[in-house]
Amino acid sequence: MLLPEGVLINGLTGEVSPDTGKYTKRLSELREVFQDRAELDRMVATEGDPVVYEVIEYKKEGSDLFFGTTTMEAGNVGGEYFMTRGHFHQRRDMGEVYYTQSGHGVLLLESRDGETRVVRMEPGVCAFIPPDWAHRSINVGTEKLVFVWVCNVEAGHDYGDILKRGMRKVVVDRDGADVIVDNPRY
Ligand code: F6R
Ligand code: ZN
Repeated sequence: MLLPEGVLINGLTGEVSPDTGKYTKRLSELREVFQDRAELDRMVATEGDPVVYEVIEYKKEGSDLFFGTTTMEAGNVGGEYFMTRGHFHQRRDMGEVYYTQSGHGVLLLESRDGETRVVRMEPGVCAFIPPDWAHRSINVGTEKLVFVWVCNVEAGHDYGDILKRGMRKVVVDRDGADVIVDNPRY
């Protein structure tokens, strides 16, 4: 029998206690994600392959739900802010919740038929991600962006299309302001 448990989440660092697993994505692992690959290679070589984000999860065998944190560093590659890979769920009937704890971000969403929506990620904003909407989080601030996500264990990830051509929009820095523009690669 599964037993209830309180899990401590640090909204400033993303630490989850206890956790059941974690992974880190560094810039060199996100080469397909950013447009300016020459600048990415330069940053990897000269800045020690910076961490872009870390995911920490709490998952119990036999449960229908799991949750965790994503902690994104601040930065950009040639003006394109640090972002996650972005994905649809394999299970098209399963959505997700993103609850921002700290920092400032943009949650970029795209429906299967190409509609774009944006939800600003600010502390206290709990974003509803409907089933079958691709989602990517982008740190547009100058500090860590930390959010809690809650999802069905069977949702899965489908990265295929988004890794290949990106999403229809990209979020770039223009004189210190975040601007959403068409993806030139799409
Ligand atoms: C799970 C989910 C998040 C992301 C995480 C990293 O469905 O949406 O846990 O997996 O924020 O983003 P990706 O997986 O797009 O690199
Ligand atoms: Zn997801």
